[in-house]
Amino acid sequence: MELWSRRKFFRTSLAGSALAGANKLFGRTPTNGDDALSLANLAPPAQGKRPLIISSANGLHALDKGMDILKKGGDTLDAVVAAVTVVEDDPNDDSVGYGGLPNEEGEVELDASVMHGPTHRAGSVASVRRIKNVSRLAKTVMENTNHVMLVGDGARRYAVAEGFEEMNLLTEHSRKIWLAWKAKTSFNWRPGIDSPEWKEHMAALFDGNEAEIAYAESVIAHPRTGTIPCMAVDAKGDISATTTTSGLSWKIPGRVGDSPIIGAGCCVDNEVGAAGSTGKGEENIKICGGHTIIEMMRKGMSPEAACLEALGRIAHNYKNDKKKLGTFHIYFYAINKDGAHGAASLWRNGYEKKHAVYAVHDGTEAKLVECTPYLDETGGDS
Ligand code: GLY
Repeated sequence: MELWSRRKFFRTSLAGSALAGANKLFGRTPTNGDDALSLANLAPPAQGKRPLIISSANGLHALDKGMDILKKGGDTLDAVVAAVTVVEDDPNDDSVGYGGLPNEEGEVELDASVMHGPTHRAGSVASVRRIKNVSRLAKTVMENTNHVMLVGDGARRYAVAEGFEEMNLLTEHSRKIWLAWKAKTSFNWRPGIDSPEWKEHMAALFDGNEAEIAYAESVIAHPRTGTIPCMAVDAKGDISATTTTSGLSWKIPGRVGDSPIIGAGCCVDNEVGAAGSTGKGEENIKICGGHTIIEMMRKGMSPEAACLEALGRIAHNYKNDKKKLGTFHIYFYAINKDGAHGAASLWRNGYEKKHAVYAVHDGTEAKLVECTPYLDETGGDS
């Protein structure tokens, strides 16, 4: 009760000075132009609603599953893991789990993490091959071991010991796109000069399916870092989160992004809230984004303002150079203990002019909500 009122006091009384202080500290100059958005002009934190579950946009169809668990009084970690498992199982989602886009050798490598607010526990796995449900594996590491993080073949062998099924994670869809990437980037993985040209090669690879060819060309030009972070707060105010991903497509084997890094791609403090991220994980790791957002919310920022603050630190790392920032895209998502939520994207629109949105279920239905852009224009790869 004590902490609760203290937090409310911070939110209502100190938010402005916290924002100003943070801006000064990290060299960000808020403007009202079409450049960086003004933190000072943001609306006060939105009224929260509990229970609540949110995720990146690719989790829209899966949030019902998590909300059902929350409404029945189930655990918040069970809720978020159940939701992302739907996406991990989906062969048509090539950003996560089964059918994820592979590394440069054609092997799918998955990363995931979980945090359970009420018990202050965490688990994570990275560079896991041949195991589909890595969010559940991260939860198993948290529950059944004395460790927080397992990686590579050790994580796979641990999964097998715990009864997880081993399988080939490459679908025909992801295998063919990988083959097309090989053909585009290697002199040897494509027909010789005495053979048909690139267009004919692609048509043969994808049986003339124009939509598949266009999609493959896009993923080759803009390697994906698709991911699904999911976080929930229940009616009592307990909080958990998970983040799961197949990471950067065509990565060097063993590359690990932010998703399995506790404090970067996933962070929960049961007194404050939860945060997660999608996009170029390397940028998030360097600013410990998840932890930064939690600490900003602890000081009174709304989830949206805290996400913008994390993006501000990334922009600051590049002296706000839009040319450099334009080589990547990154999003942050957060909820607080009251059930307020927010998300921010480095760019308003991605390279395909796609609007930045995220998925929210507050008990009525799952819907897409706009992210607040840090830079109010189109830009950003991946
Ligand atoms: N954000 C996911 C990754 O970089 O792997």
